[in-house]
Amino acid sequence: MSVDLNVLKDQLDGRTARIALILGSGLGGLAGDVDEALRIPYAEIPGFPQSGVSGHSGELVWGKLAGVPVILLSGRIHYYEQGDAAAMRPALEALRALGVEILVLTNAAGSTREDLPPGSVMLIDDHINYSGLNPLIGEPSDARFTGMTEAYDAGLRAHMRAAAEAEGVTLPGGVYMWFSGPSFETPAEVRMARLLGADALGMSTVPETILARFLGLKVVAASVVTNYGAGMTGAELSHAETKDVAPQGGAILARILKAALPRF
Ligand code: HPA
Repeated sequence: MSVDLNVLKDQLDGRTARIALILGSGLGGLAGDVDEALRIPYAEIPGFPQSGVSGHSGELVWGKLAGVPVILLSGRIHYYEQGDAAAMRPALEALRALGVEILVLTNAAGSTREDLPPGSVMLIDDHINYSGLNPLIGEPSDARFTGMTEAYDAGLRAHMRAAAEAEGVTLPGGVYMWFSGPSFETPAEVRMARLLGADALGMSTVPETILARFLGLKVVAASVVTNYGAGMTGAELSHAETKDVAPQGGAILARILKAALPRF
């Protein structure tokens, strides 16, 4: 299934953008911050993947953030919704066809580190895909052998760090590890992740990064930490907590992004 580009282009009526952002939990507010906004519910874009996760709305928003034309995807489909690691492929292909060159990915994540507490933001320097899943499985072309040495663009990461510094916000870098979800990890899995070098754990972003690199988009990504990983505090994890805490870090990440976008 692919997106009906003619319908989408008609709706956008000539509006384009070099940069697209996928807004994870807590970042939804950014969609309300754009100037000259044009909002298109996914339901009105034939073929556009739709998420059914509470806390994620489902609309494509064109507008200007910090004066920069952007396309925001407010809401994303996750692997765990349908068992399809390539579920976001039609959306990313559509973005590329619209002229997008840079994909900014955001997510909510658990932390494996005491010094990365809930409410903080982490720049994703690299990821670990230990899931056994890959959105390019079944892709017939040789492009499936996509290089992932610099999955998260070094230049864009430098702009993010500079923007954070200009905003007076700390932005540690770290490694994000993808778990399929939707159940949370066990304490043993969190200890394993930490041993393997993961700083944050989450249920999105990695398949999108792989797809974006395959499609030739540059990627930059950040996590909003909503909780310590399972077993680190004794408290049970919940989606309600994710939704409650995400806006804290989300507000910080929104500030960083607004300062970073004009530098991209
Ligand atoms: N694990 C996986 N995904 C998450 C978490 C977590 O602890 N918190 C928010 N998303």
